[in-house]
Amino acid sequence: MRLRGKKNRVSLESQTDLVVLEPKKLKGKWHELFGNDNPIHIELGMGKGQFISRMSANHPHINYLGMDMFDELLRIGSRKARTLWKEEKNSDEVPNLFLVRGNVEHLEEMFEPGELERIYLNFSDPWPKSKHAKRRLTYHRFLSMYKNVLNERGEIHFKTDSLSLFEFSLNSFSDSQLQMKNISLDLHRNGLREDLVLTEYETKFSGQGMPIYRLEAVIGSEAIREHRSRVAEAMEKSKRRAPDEDAAEKDEPVTEASSEE
Ligand SMILES: C[S@@+](CC[C@H](N)C(=O)[O-])C[C@H]1O[C@@H](n2cnc3c(N)ncnc32)[C@H](O)[C@@H]1O
Repeated sequence: MRLRGKKNRVSLESQTDLVVLEPKKLKGKWHELFGNDNPIHIELGMGKGQFISRMSANHPHINYLGMDMFDELLRIGSRKARTLWKEEKNSDEVPNLFLVRGNVEHLEEMFEPGELERIYLNFSDPWPKSKHAKRRLTYHRFLSMYKNVLNERGEIHFKTDSLSLFEFSLNSFSDSQLQMKNISLDLHRNGLREDLVLTEYETKFSGQGMPIYRLEAVIGSEAIREHRSRVAEAMEKSKRRAPDEDAAEKDEPVTEASSEE
């Protein structure tokens, strides 16, 4: 990822309203930081922050965290979020977003069990060499951390341009006995999905005509129950349909190809 030079830097230390530099100190206190009990959704490896800034503006009743390891990305992300909120909402504050400097390796030192409700893994580094498989953010060791910090409504939403990472991840989710839904092998096949928020990498790769792979993994007990009842309902409905309707739609899955973010 190419980063800008050092000109016009605003120190991260001065941005305590938007930036968290020592996330381990907030373990168990994230809701206090936001000042409400709204669910917390996090993007792990947010890059320059396009996705998480847009999500915060679109969904004011969700608390968002964008995590990355690099100060320069946090700086770019904070500029982006402030500009978006100023231009679209005429607000000098970004009330439902914090950008966090941290390494996913230490996730369980930053969050109590059940403190998060959703994890976004967007275009995570694919680490194509098999000797680096353990670094992939969908490696089973990471999945087990995610399970621990997610609550009863917990889900992981994963998208990537890398077929090999997607294949690896399908196996990893399956080996970890995670229920998957809304799997897509070409998310924008009918043109860019207006209902989904695009990341920087997604804008670039889908602009080049590359397929984007996506899935959602259902983790929390309540999320699993809800998903199962939706599937049962859809199956029941399809049984009641007229035979000619059934024939026309027999190849379709019972759930949607993907859902809104
Ligand atoms: C390929 S970029 C994707 C950025 C953004 N999500 C997007 O879709 O445009 C991957 C990002 O993940 C970050 N990253 C990789 N490993 C990480 C880790 N262990 N902890 C935190 N961030 C990580 C990198 O610094 C980089 O910004």
